[in-house]
Amino acid sequence: MIDPKTVKNKALVEWVDKVAKLTTPTNVVWCDGSQEEANELYEAMIAKKACIKLNQQKRPGCYYFRSDPRDVARVESRTFICSKTQQEAGPTNNWMDPKEMKEKLMGLFKGCMKGRTMYVIPFSMGPIGGPISQIGVEITDSPYVVVSMRIMARVSPKVLDVLGENGKFIPCLHSVGKPINSPEDDVAWPCNPENTYITHFPETREIISFGSGYGGNALLGKKCFSLRIASVMGRDEGWMAEHMLILGVRDPKGRKSYVTGAFPSACGKTNFAMLIAPKELQDKGWKITCVGDDIAWIKPGPDGRLYAINPENGFFGVAPGTSMKTNPNAMLSCSKNTIFTNVALTDDGDVWWEGMTKEPPAHLIDWHGNDWTPESGTPAAHPNSRFAAPIVNCPCLDENAEKLEGVPISAIVIGGRRPKGIPLVYESFNWTHGVYLGAMMGSERTAAAEGKQGELRSDPMAMLPFAGYNMAHYLGHLVKMGKGLSQTPRFYHVNWFRRDAEGNFMWPGFGANARVLAWIVNRQNGEAKAKETAIGFVPEYDDLDWDGMDYSKDTFNELMSYDAETVSAQPLKEELYEQLPHALKIEREALLERLSK
Ligand code: GTP
Ligand code: SPV
Ligand code: MN
Repeated sequence: MIDPKTVKNKALVEWVDKVAKLTTPTNVVWCDGSQEEANELYEAMIAKKACIKLNQQKRPGCYYFRSDPRDVARVESRTFICSKTQQEAGPTNNWMDPKEMKEKLMGLFKGCMKGRTMYVIPFSMGPIGGPISQIGVEITDSPYVVVSMRIMARVSPKVLDVLGENGKFIPCLHSVGKPINSPEDDVAWPCNPENTYITHFPETREIISFGSGYGGNALLGKKCFSLRIASVMGRDEGWMAEHMLILGVRDPKGRKSYVTGAFPSACGKTNFAMLIAPKELQDKGWKITCVGDDIAWIKPGPDGRLYAINPENGFFGVAPGTSMKTNPNAMLSCSKNTIFTNVALTDDGDVWWEGMTKEPPAHLIDWHGNDWTPESGTPAAHPNSRFAAPIVNCPCLDENAEKLEGVPISAIVIGGRRPKGIPLVYESFNWTHGVYLGAMMGSERTAAAEGKQGELRSDPMAMLPFAGYNMAHYLGHLVKMGKGLSQTPRFYHVNWFRRDAEGNFMWPGFGANARVLAWIVNRQNGEAKAKETAIGFVPEYDDLDWDGMDYSKDTFNELMSYDAETVSAQPLKEELYEQLPHALKIEREALLERLSK
């Protein structure tokens, strides 16, 4: 706990007072992010049956939460960009006039923390005091948010020292939207699904979120700040805030490269970020290390190269599908001091989810809190169940992950879940062509957001739900960011998710993706061959290292084939396409021209 009397920043103190007057909590607590503070919060939540302490022999420092079944993922339909004009929010964002939205929110926030504690959480995205880092303060009435924020961001009194008397911070206001008017309101997972609003005010750089306690809706340093508001800051200040993982690769010659990757939600960023190269590649000297798994802030450095930091301090990873086979580094990352939400509970106080083991346990408590057996016929863990694990737990954490000025980026990988017509990998001709490929990205919808799963949707740069301003202007900003660099990264479009006629994945994925990554790094070093095609440069069978892997040339050629109609489809909303920068429309013309030959 921080003594409020020691807080020097006047604007902060005034804002906290104002919010407390509006929301009328029982008390106000300034959080210091310490272990003791977290322990107290966990104990209080356990006493209220809002939280379960997991088996401490098996999962030291780990806790388990089940959400309200109506509050399990981001709600894009209730997410708003409240810029002055609708044109600034653009054709892909929900928009409301900022004044109108503020009025609505003031009504909802009035008295909304009654009977609850209001927590004030000073946090830094990026290492505290770093030149690319930013400071935020989240006010919340959810103790679950407090314990999650101290894993995902850097919560510390030091943040207030850096802020000083007059420093600027992003105010992030959050409430679960369920005042305790009578004892029945004091439920295990309070939320207000009928009145959920996740709102952003790009001009005044404020975030206000009401009604949900889950993930990206409530941990406001993540999507709301580090992507939606930061993308606006980046536009204004000449940098990029991207939905990207960052990884390091050491090649057999001992050279180090860094690669970022933009894949939509639940499409494999965490897995790719923590990739383990197959043994045969390791023996040759390949080693992959992790800098971040979800967000990259990218700035041109003094040498004219692009440098990236991971603003986060933890992994908020999708649990289902994660196993010692598919992603051992993620499994080890969540072996201690981790919060699990909406996974299943085993009889010995451990966690389980679909895909963790080949054979499911004979009995579980599912994410609804009900008895579950393999015969139940329902998932034991919610498909968007997640772990929040401290980044320091990661066995393959890169040695430069904390470097204040970031790591230099050599290549940008992009892609989504594409069942048909899109090859395993192809390389852009140049930066603008790469941004074009990013603009035309699409993916099958996943459980990370509400809506119909499996439906193919356009998701430019995996930023559809995260661009804090007009998507067309955002893509224009990306085009501009490639100008005048001393070393321009190429884009690599990948697809781990192509299916055969029977519906099976054609590519084993996971560790095998390291073979594609090795080709990418070799390409950047000018040491790998590729064939020029209408869609970009592609590897031929012998250009990949198949040592230790049995994959036939015929299947590879099938996997690498493209369907002209699919690759040339224009998936963007018509209004968005109309507003695209000219340079990207020219890229499209050029592609159609190449395909017609
Ligand atoms: P967010 O955290 O939502 O932004 O998503 P993410 O991109 O980090 O998702 P994550 O890496 O957690 O991917 C989730 C799902 O993708 C899991 O079900 C994995 O099993 C699956 N997955 C990851 N890599 C691969 C792969 O190479 N092939 C296949 N077939 N599935 C994969
Ligand atoms: C995503 O949906 O892209 C996530 C999870 O990373 S959440 O933080 O809930 O948005
Ligand atoms: Mn994400």
